[in-house]
Formats: sequence, structure tokens, C-alpha cells
Amino acid sequence: MKRKITNLISFLLLSLIAFSQTDVQTERRIQQLIKKMTLTEKVGMLHGNSKFYTSGVPRLGIPEWALSDGPHGVRAEMNRHNWQYAGWTNDSSTCFPPGTAMAASWNLDLVRQRGYVLGEEARFRKKDVLLGPGINIIRTPLCGRNFEYMSEDPYLVSQLSVAYIKALQTKDVAASVKHFLGNNQEDNRATIDVNISERALHEIYLSGFKAAVTEGGALTVMGAYNKFHGDWCAENSYLGRTLLRDEFNFKGVYMSDWNAVHSTDKAALAGLDLEMGTVKTDYNDWYFANPLIQAVKEGRIKESLVDEKVANILRVMFKTKMFDEKNREKGSINTKEHQQAAYRSAVEAIVLLKNEKELLPLNIKEWKSIAVIGDNATRKHCGGGLSSEIKTLYEITPLQALTQKLGKSLKINFAQGYNKQSSFFEDTNKGQLNTDSVDWKLINEAVAQAKKSDVAIVFAGLNHDFDTESFDRMHARLPYGQEKLIQEVTKANPKTIVVIIAGSPLELSGIAYRVPALVWAWYGGMEAGNAVLDVLSGKEFPSGKLPFTMPVSLNQSPAHTLGNYPGRDLKTSYEEDILVGYRWFDTKDIKPLYPFGYGLSYTTFAIYNTATDKKEYKKTDEITVSLKLKNTGKRAGAEVIQIYASQTNCSVLRPKKELKAFQKVFLQAGEEKSVSLKVKVQDLAFYSEKTSSWVVEPGEFVLHVATSANDIQNSLPIIIK
Ligand code: BGC
Repeated sequence: MKRKITNLISFLLLSLIAFSQTDVQTERRIQQLIKKMTLTEKVGMLHGNSKFYTSGVPRLGIPEWALSDGPHGVRAEMNRHNWQYAGWTNDSSTCFPPGTAMAASWNLDLVRQRGYVLGEEARFRKKDVLLGPGINIIRTPLCGRNFEYMSEDPYLVSQLSVAYIKALQTKDVAASVKHFLGNNQEDNRATIDVNISERALHEIYLSGFKAAVTEGGALTVMGAYNKFHGDWCAENSYLGRTLLRDEFNFKGVYMSDWNAVHSTDKAALAGLDLEMGTVKTDYNDWYFANPLIQAVKEGRIKESLVDEKVANILRVMFKTKMFDEKNREKGSINTKEHQQAAYRSAVEAIVLLKNEKELLPLNIKEWKSIAVIGDNATRKHCGGGLSSEIKTLYEITPLQALTQKLGKSLKINFAQGYNKQSSFFEDTNKGQLNTDSVDWKLINEAVAQAKKSDVAIVFAGLNHDFDTESFDRMHARLPYGQEKLIQEVTKANPKTIVVIIAGSPLELSGIAYRVPALVWAWYGGMEAGNAVLDVLSGKEFPSGKLPFTMPVSLNQSPAHTLGNYPGRDLKTSYEEDILVGYRWFDTKDIKPLYPFGYGLSYTTFAIYNTATDKKEYKKTDEITVSLKLKNTGKRAGAEVIQIYASQTNCSVLRPKKELKAFQKVFLQAGEEKSVSLKVKVQDLAFYSEKTSSWVVEPGEFVLHVATSANDIQNSLPIIIK
């Protein structure tokens, strides 16, 4: 035993030495390259030379750098010098369900699979950096980019980001975690000045970025468009230096969002390495082009600062094997395995919100006809959302899947139900104006189809005229008179199932109490239709859980209750502070329509024998929570066990509870499993503004074993010494 331990220690030491030796060698090579470069060559690497590429130094063997969007698929090739697509025929890719759907699966294995696929496809397309994941906190239901982001909870965001980034980067592609920081709304995103307290910053908005860099090893970070505490993110030295470089020890590339740089000297001094996307047509005019060379010549910027930035880029190039092409991941695209990963990701995201009288799964054997209603039954979504849009190889709509899989055994009666009345105009939500008219002709047709069918499914929700980059939604209602449609169809056929396709919270109380079955299917990527049909039919089971709180109405949400969205005079203060999402609802005792972490199953579960391994812990300890989980129903299913923590007494306000661990557990009918989850005592800390540090105040804490933020199965008190 002793020998084994000694061997292990020497192995670890050796790996450490080997690792640091490679690092030392790399740093040496970086410095050698920099020594050979002229100032113009160096600065040439610090700004785009086109929309998505930056220059290398061919005479020294430094290749150009190829960047690409985006978070849920590799974006089609754009022209180098304008925003048109290049029209290639070999650049379609696998399209995953976007961020909120990924989060709803609560399955880190699936997130890793996505990372591998994205990495392989990015490499196949010869990309070096993939611009994602987008991890800003979902602060308001209205943010246009919520669908791309992940959650309102910093712990969930951190876990997902780390899994995604680590997997992606094993394929020799750099992730670019974005948008650092405070890009929690799209309205006025390029001008708004965001004010967040130090505590909310550390406990809520920074956590994901910190985890992405320190645990996930993210090789690049993208700065946001907005201002933070008075300075643009790209030239904010608190963000770029104090937090990124000093606190996170970030050694990678800090790049700007596209056209988010406003100065040369200030941005250069604040830690920005790379300027991208400026609208100035002559690339030499960009802030990090000739003006930077000028600043060095005039002595305002030291050349050593330029060297630092070049070194950061070269370091990422080395880490992604750009100087070792022979051994670099070659990649593959649109393989069956990739499509299967997209399918699983869509299946496991689907959240069952309501299922009265076990209307679901569909009783296909007994039913003869099915009414399929709604624009979202036939609409494709992969190509929308702006920078995250994907030219996917194919996209299966719900109606296609239903027709292909059930068309022979069931009569499918389709009705449009409602029309998409909105349009998309970049940077303005005016396309959402006047989109609430009720079209009685379409409703009557739908009602007629529903009446003559055994069951009706309405595919309702939003599309990327609403869930999109560059503007927010004007409201959180279902547009196009869909509420009326659903109410009328349900009256016509009490067996009505509503499937919502959308990426951010909606006000659903107008339908949630009226329909017997409600399913949230997100934007499901290329396999959307197959996934939703297979869950509805019972071939697969629903196992997703909401990654955000679904409020009864928008004004229940903290930013809206407090009236600080979208801000005033281009300033916004996050007054709800640490009480974001369920932290607000819980602490203020407000009942949402559906809580964070909520989702039903086709089976039932029992949780028992919950226990902590000890009653008292030191601050350096790790707590183990154990329990037994049994599938007590007749079908297979999965439950997401969630551990929330609260502190009984604390010198500062703490949210009623906070998520600290989770695990998705799959069980066959009747099966029972022992489950154990770990929580570090350090993770129970709050961020003290007095001491500018994380503090665990000794005393009683309670760990809640739960299946959603509102469904606590058992609460376990512990003492922290
Ligand atoms: C978006 C980024 C994106 C970039 C390049 C920007 O408008 O905010 O997320 O990566 O464009 O398309």
C-alpha cells in the first residue's frame, strides 16, 4: 500500500514537472517568435483582418487565426469582408438545441458530448476558436438572448460551462466564453451602463466566468458590448486586469465582442488583447491597428504590452496545436454520432410541466386520429437568432416527425391555427409590434380539426423574431393570439396537449390551468421533431427540469417588480442584488407558475434514507449527502436530485436557499439506486463586501434534498465549526 502511494506521488510529481517543462518550453518558443517580429507584424495579430480571421506572420510560420460562431453548432462560412454568407455547399453542420435547452437536461455527460461534437465539427471546418458558450445569467424573462444562455443559477451555469469547455478544447479548438460581463439584456446592449454590487457580482454574475477560466481552462474570453460601472467592458481594467488576469490568473486571450472597442490606449491598458468586428472598412484604421502602432511610437503604450498580447495569442495557438498540425484533431462533420448527440440533447431537454389524467404518453394504440395544430408544428428554427444561427444539414419539424412515424397508423389532421405575424429587423424589436391579432378563421379551422380528432396537439410558443440576439422581447405573452387558439381548441377537444417551443420564460397562466397536458420542448435543434414526438409517444421519457423560474406574470420577476429593467438614461442598477431568479421568489415568498428545477416524469419516484455523512464539519471539509432513490412507477424515468443550502442565521441577508449540487439519475421501473452528492463547505460561503472575500460564517446550515426549488423532500441540518 505504502509503495503504491509512493509510486502515485512520484507519478504526480513527474507529470507536474513534465507539464511545467512543456509550459516552459512553450513560453521560450513564444518569446523567440516575438523577438523576431516587427511591431507591425505584432499589431497585425491583435485585430481582425476580416470578419472572422486575424493575421498570422507567414514568414515565421505563424498561421492566421480562424474564429467562428457559435455556441450550439458551427456557423456557416461568411464572406471575409462583409456579412453575407459565402454560399459554400459544404458548410452545413450539426445543430444542437440552444443553451437553455442544454441546461434543462441537467446532464453533464450530454454537455460533454456536445463539446466533443462541436470541437470535431469546428476542426473539420478548420476553425481555431469557437465563439461560445454564452453564459450570461438569465436575469429577466425578456432578454432576447436567454435562449442562447443557460440559466438564472450561477452554480448550474458553472457546471455546464466547465463540462462544455473542457470537452470542446480536447479537440484542439479554443472556447470563447462570452459575454464578459453584465450583458443580461439586449436592449441598449451597446450603450447601457450596468451597475452591480460587489456581492452580486461575485455570487451571481461572475461565478460562471470564474469557473469557465479556473476550472474549465477556457482559452479565450469575449468582452461584452455594454459598460460596466462607467467603463466599456473592453476597456474596463477592473474586468480585464483585476478580475480576469489577477483573480482568475487567466493566461489566454481576452477579445472584444464584434465592434465593441471604443479606444486604443485605454483598451490596451485594460487588458484587451484582440479587437474584432469593427465596422471601419480599412482594417488598418481599427483601434488595435495603426493607432496602436502610433501609441507605441509616441511612448503612450510600451511595446512590452503589445508583446504580452501577442504572447497570449501565441499561447492559445500552441495549446490548440496550431504549430503541430500533424498531431492536431482533424475533425469530422455531420456524422450519425453527431446527429445522435443532437437528438439525445433534444430529448433530455424536454420538460413535462403538466400531465393530468396521464394524457401522456400518447395512447397511439387506441386512437385513430390526431389534430396537429400551430405554426410551430412546421416552422424550422435552426437558422435564426442572429450570430448563433446554424445552416443545419436538416431539421425535422414536429409535423414531419409525426407524419413519418405515425402517419400510417393515425390520421393526421393538420391546421395552421395561427400565423407568424412578426418579422425580424436587426437591432430593433419593431418587428414584434402589432403581433397579437386573433385570427378567427384559423382558430375555427383548428377547432374543426380538433373536434374530429381523438386528441389534439398544439405546437405553440415563439420563434427567433422574439428569441434573438440584438433586441429583447416587448412582453412575455404568447403572441399571435395563441392563448385564444389554445383555449378554443381545448374547449373543442378536452384531450389537448400543448407543446411550447421557446427559449425563455413566458406568461402561461392563461393556458396552464385550462389544458390537461403541457410540455416545454425548447428549440430542439436539427432533431427537434423526432425528439418531441418520441417523448410524446413514450418511446423516450421526459426528464428535463426548468433552468429558470417560470413566473405567473412578468411583474413577479425581480427586475420588473423593482422597475429597473431596461434602465433609465442608459444606466441600470441591479437592485435585486443577489436575489436573482428563484432566490428572489423564495426569499420574498412569491409563488411562481413553475419553480426553478421543476419537471414531471411518466413515472413516480420515492426518495428516502437521506443523510449527511456527519453532523459537524470544518471549513475545509466536504459534505456527502446520501439517499436512496426508487422508481415507484411502471415506466423508466430519470430524476434530477437537487441539493440546496440555507444558513439559519447569518450576519448578512442570504437567499432562502441556493443550489449547491445536482445529479441526474436514470432508473428502470421498480429500480432503486443509492445516490451520493458532494458539497464543499467552502461553497456555502457568501461574498463579504466588508472584507472583499468569501466567508463561511460558522453555525447551523440546512441542506435540502429536493426535486425542484419548491419540492423539498427532506431537510438536513448540519453545523459548521
Ligand atoms: C455577438 C457575439 C458573436 C459575434 C460574432 C456579436 O454580435 O454578440 O456573441 O460571437 O457577434 O458574430
